[in-house]
Amino acid sequence: MTPKRLIIAVTGASGGPYAVRILQLLRAVPDYEAHLIISSAGAVTLRQETQLKPADLATLATVTYRNSDIGAAIASGSFPTSGMIIAPCSIKTLGAVANCDTGTLITRAADVCLKEGRPLLLMVRETPLHRGHLRVMADAADAGAIIAPPMPAFYTRPASVADIVDHTARRTLQRMGVPALAPEPWTGLPHDETPLAPSNSGRSPDRASERA
Ligand SMILES: Cc1cc2nc3c(=O)[nH]c(=O)nc-3n(C[C@H](O)[C@H](O)[C@H](O)COP(=O)(O)O)c2cc1C
Repeated sequence: MTPKRLIIAVTGASGGPYAVRILQLLRAVPDYEAHLIISSAGAVTLRQETQLKPADLATLATVTYRNSDIGAAIASGSFPTSGMIIAPCSIKTLGAVANCDTGTLITRAADVCLKEGRPLLLMVRETPLHRGHLRVMADAADAGAIIAPPMPAFYTRPASVADIVDHTARRTLQRMGVPALAPEPWTGLPHDETPLAPSNSGRSPDRASERA
């Protein structure tokens, strides 16, 4: 049986811990292979945020490629993969993907996923966002990419940063079709916690009391 290959790319946005957690989780799924690429800036931010070097991350992957290796297997649509996650994804890489700029293995492999109709998830991380950022996000989404900024969810009542990272990593893998790693599904509010009733029936706030 052909293994399911997921390409994981790490670029120079903040969010190295997400890449680490995604790779750790994927390693526990027997029929999946992780194909890893790290950009130069990704290596810098990873080191800053986790103290890990690319070689450390490579121990969690099945195969690791140089970002300059545009002749690698994953640069061709003839090499079957289950898609690609870019986590974290910088604005620079987002812009390249949106504009079909395939000058590196990361952007070429991403373009291959889009042209072959395979899922491509961009964990874009930047804030605040100007109109140019939003425009390239829309362009990438129009080409078929999944735009998934790492926005923490608090309804799960995370107790630590590790909980927040774990939840986002699991939701990312769930979105990519790895159900074995999905977080506990939400089953509705607990019965003993009734939602708050609307406080001012939709009236606009009282400006005078706001100023007080
Ligand atoms: C510590 C650090 C944090 C950064 N955080 C971000 C970020 O959150 N988002 C972003 O788009 N760029 C960020 N950058 C800038 C990118 O690393 C830079 O634009 C780089 O050229 C991206 O290259 P790449 O997409 O090839 O990895 C950061 C850089 C450093 C050193």
